[in-house]
Amino acid sequence: MVKQKLELVRNWQEEKELLVLGFFEKDGEVSGTELGQRIFNNLTLGSANLRKDFQGKFGQKSLIYKVSPKRILFVGLGKAKDFNPEARREISSQVACYVRNLGIKSYSVEVFGDFSDLLCPSAVKTQVESQAAGLYRFESYKKSDKNIEEIKILVSFVTPEIEKAFCEGEIVAKNLYFVRDLINEPASKMTPAMLAETAKEVAQQSGRKIQVKILDNWELKEMGANLIAAVGRAGFHPPYLITLEYKPENHQNAKPYVLVGKGICFDSGGLDIKTESSMAGMHTDMAGGAAAIGALKTIAELDLPLWIVGLVPTAENLIAEGSYKPGDIIKAYNGKTIEIGNTDAEGRLILFDAMAYAKEKFNPYLMIDIATLTGACKVALGEHYAGLLGSDRKFLKKIKEAGEESGDKVWELPLDKKYAEEIGSEVADLKNIGSHWAGAITAACFLQEAIGKEQPWLHLDIAGAGRMEIIGQATGFGLRLFVQFFLNEIK
Ligand code: BES
Ligand code: ZN
Ligand code: ZN
Repeated sequence: MVKQKLELVRNWQEEKELLVLGFFEKDGEVSGTELGQRIFNNLTLGSANLRKDFQGKFGQKSLIYKVSPKRILFVGLGKAKDFNPEARREISSQVACYVRNLGIKSYSVEVFGDFSDLLCPSAVKTQVESQAAGLYRFESYKKSDKNIEEIKILVSFVTPEIEKAFCEGEIVAKNLYFVRDLINEPASKMTPAMLAETAKEVAQQSGRKIQVKILDNWELKEMGANLIAAVGRAGFHPPYLITLEYKPENHQNAKPYVLVGKGICFDSGGLDIKTESSMAGMHTDMAGGAAAIGALKTIAELDLPLWIVGLVPTAENLIAEGSYKPGDIIKAYNGKTIEIGNTDAEGRLILFDAMAYAKEKFNPYLMIDIATLTGACKVALGEHYAGLLGSDRKFLKKIKEAGEESGDKVWELPLDKKYAEEIGSEVADLKNIGSHWAGAITAACFLQEAIGKEQPWLHLDIAGAGRMEIIGQATGFGLRLFVQFFLNEIK
């Protein structure tokens, strides 16, 4: 849960603790909002040093002690021309963490760069989201002593659009915490059944806006989703296929958007067992599934007029007597036979069945899958971009735009048919691994076989972008991307 209470205010004089003001750097001077400039000029009258020390360089901070409010923090925003949404996200999150480190519990902060005529609603949304994102910590098992309890967002004026953007930001921030908490939960608690239970709760709490359907292991086998069943066979906790459907009366699309998220609750590698260092953190291998569930929840809370379905195949990839084995040949939901080259390439197997099922059942307008799929993608792009592949230029462009806008950035890799040659098999229709190289691309080629080349489809590999290595915690990548993408899709 988001700890901070958020409020949109116009009167800075009510702030008792800390007022945060942003300044651009301009021709050797600083340039702030009307309020900021007034306060800065007043204070610097008596202190030439402040004027000398604080130049408004990006990230620069000067804390001044006063009487009411007790403190004022000047924050440098850099040059106005460089102050893009990315800079806004960065500085909002930096400031929130800086204030928390001071041990202060509540503060008022300007919408940075709010020069009245410039204040656009999206700036308010971005700032609300980013400061909350920066403050997040996984606290289910260890509470931190320093917490921000309240943030007041100071605006020079309020319009219905600004109010709406503020509420959207608040909803997204809350759900980002929800998604990250789900992912960070250890695997012995966040089992496939628990993930399914969470999806049920999301549906229940949506007030009938979201319908949920859970297929259990027996039903999966019965319908021929043998890949999900095979991957999940050694798990003490059996696999499921979760479907969440949001279909508001005023939906604008005749065919649904379908999100499919990988829900591996723990990935040991199976019989092709991982090493100690690569197994660490594999309780977050359901990050794609969590993003899909979180996106449906958020979209329903925002009442978007779009028909959207979320599917999450969920299983544990473990080792037991029943484990599926290298060399096994398994018939997928769509009838294709799959040779198992490596049991650690399990994500693409469960997604394959889920995507084939989604294609048949929903005939999607667009299918997007999201998965912590390959170490190769993490090698290629690190943590700052998710890998993107897809079959539809129009949607590829749109998702890149949503990435830039939301901060969940994506980078396209080539879905060239040459790579697909590698996943051929001598004994089955397909093999679940390629050669040593371009692992992120061969994985995507494999997935495309589930739905065919005609289906408009985007694939997001978040093996790197889904988790921050230094703290080993989830980023919740995908939630903000999807919300932005769908907001842009509304006509
Ligand atoms: N869950 C992993 C991918 C992963 C790696 C996620 C690092 C997050 C961080 C996936 O199931 C996997 O093990 N992929 C294998 C595929 C290989 C056997 C073809 C990999 O990338 O090594
Ligand atoms: Zn694996
Ligand atoms: Zn995995």
